Amino acid sequence: MKAIYPGSFDPITNGHIDIINRASYFFDEIIVAAMINSEKKYLFSIEERKDLIETEFLHKFNVSVVSFNGLLVDYMKKNNIKAIIKGLRTVTDYGYEAQMALTNKKLHREAETFFIHSTEEYSFLSSSLIKEIYYNKGRDLPEYVPEHVLKALKSKY
Ligand code: PNS
Repeated sequence: MKAIYPGSFDPITNGHIDIINRASYFFDEIIVAAMINSEKKYLFSIEERKDLIETEFLHKFNVSVVSFNGLLVDYMKKNNIKAIIKGLRTVTDYGYEAQMALTNKKLHREAETFFIHSTEEYSFLSSSLIKEIYYNKGRDLPEYVPEHVLKALKSKY
């Protein structure tokens, strides 16, 4: 079965990568979707976010990357995708993610959301935190973002 993993990925972190790798054991194909959350302002453009994810998964046969504006469920209906993957870090994620899962279900009755709990070492990690550290010229954090993402962050700040 195909599954879509939507998110902002501004930029992708090792926490996201861990979720994608773990999901790829259970689903035949994972489509990672760099999308727009209307409540966020982005550092990287949607194309840049997509490229950073693509570079990471270039050699993974069952992971592909797309980017688009609009509703997730419209893309799912058009491409016959019924499974949504979401990562959960803490209970604070749950409220927001449950609301989104129920809304997506309302808009697309066949859509099912599958939650994967984040690995302990990434349970506090977020793209926003990473950006905050780089913005303030903190030290490199190779344990939390891949090398090419580190480079991209440095070129922005
Ligand atoms: O990484 P994020 O910011 O939590 O991801 C949120 C995202 C992009 C998955 C969500 O905002 C989204 O699905 N945006 C596309 C529009 C949509 O379908 N919204 C959900 C129904 S209201």
